[in-house]
This record gives sequence, C-alpha cells and structure tokens, in this order.
Amino acid sequence: MTHWLDSVPSTMDVAQRLAAEGCAAFTAVAAREQTAGQGRLGRSWHSPPGTGLYVSVVLRLEDPPPLVTLALGLAVREAIARVTGVECSLRWPNDLLRDGRKAAGILVQKHGDALIAGIGINVRPIEFPPDLASIAASLESECDFNALLETLLASIRHWTARPAQEVLVEFTRAAAYLDGTRVTVDDRLEGITAGLDDSGFLRIRTGDGKLHTILAGGVRASRS
Ligand code: BTN
Repeated sequence: MTHWLDSVPSTMDVAQRLAAEGCAAFTAVAAREQTAGQGRLGRSWHSPPGTGLYVSVVLRLEDPPPLVTLALGLAVREAIARVTGVECSLRWPNDLLRDGRKAAGILVQKHGDALIAGIGINVRPIEFPPDLASIAASLESECDFNALLETLLASIRHWTARPAQEVLVEFTRAAAYLDGTRVTVDDRLEGITAGLDDSGFLRIRTGDGKLHTILAGGVRASRS
C-alpha cells in the first residue's frame, strides 16, 4: 500500500510508526514536501514542495546492510533511467550521481524486525541553497511523480530479491570510483579503490600497500 501525504516533517517517522503497527512489507509513505527531511549522519535532506520524490519504504528482509543499501541503489538507478531517461552512476554506498553531483540519496534505518528505506530524489529543476549548489544536482525532469514511485517500488521488489553476487556485480558495473580511483574517506583516509568485498564493503589500498575495508563513510574522489 502507498500513502501519499502533502507535507510531513519526515516520511521516515510515519513509515517507522506503520512498521511498528505491523504493516505489510513494501508499504510506502511518500510526501510532496518534508519540513524536517533526514539525511545520513544526522544531516538534513532539502525537501521543498513539489520538486523531489521523498519516500520511505518498509522492508522486511533477511539480508543485512550494506547489501540492502546497494540493492536499493540499483533499484533507484533503474527507476530513474526508466522513467526519466537520465543515467545516474552509483557512489558507494548510497548516493546517485548525475554528472558527478548528487541527485538522489538513500537512508536505511533498522526498526525492530523491519528496515525503513528512505529515498530522496531531486526530480524537478531546483535552486539549491549555497552550501549544496556545487555538490547537488537534479534530474531536471517533468516526469509524473506517481509513475516514478510505482516504477521505483517495482524495482525495489526486484533488486532486494536478487542474490548477493548479482547485486555486487551490477553495483560494481554501475558505480563511480570503485576500481582504481584515488579517493578520500571522510577526510581521514586516502588511497586507491580496490572494489567491493563479498559483503559489499569497500576496499581501499593506501600508499603503504595496506588493504583497508571501509564499512561506512563518505567517499569522494581526491582533488589532486
Ligand atoms: C542521504 O543521502 O543522506 C540520504 C537522504 C535520504 C532522504 C530521504 S527523503 C525520504 C526519506 N525521508 C527522510 O526524512 N529522509 C529520506
């Protein structure tokens, strides 16, 4: 079942409540506006009215993150391409980039036995606030939000049911930065990306030859 709301602080809170009440898997809560949209790491998600798709989906799955996050990335990418024709690349673990700037993000939270997948997609042309202007992008699409949401839900059902190996292969194929790119992780580690391990974690080789496994973090291409 899909719930469309006009304005809500965050669809995450509504989906969380529905999950606690025992709603079915793939129940979705979408809003035309969020007044307190949540991003990862305590950040906010810019959610002005009528410009983006803001949706939280209740998942009841056995696979733990990060593979779920990677499967969701593939689902978002597929739905965007099908409905708008825009091809995004994936930035491990949870961002979708258009021409190197972030056009969509994914937030996965665990609540009891459910996972809440929060997805924000910048759909219409948006005037971003100054702190986001150089790093955020929009799909600049006039697509129908319902069509995008329905396609997204179908893609989520598909990708969250695929075997881990397929998710890893397809994510790697669609990703930016995964193999042989110099990156920094949260400004604390710099090295060359060396693909994903079998759990979906990122491997980075530092200058001293050591291989590091990154469990979470913001990965950015190095400036040099
Ligand atoms: C990120 O990249 O930091 C994740 C952004 C997730 C934003 C979406 S919008 C719908 C859902 N409701 C929220 O408050 N956040 C997620």
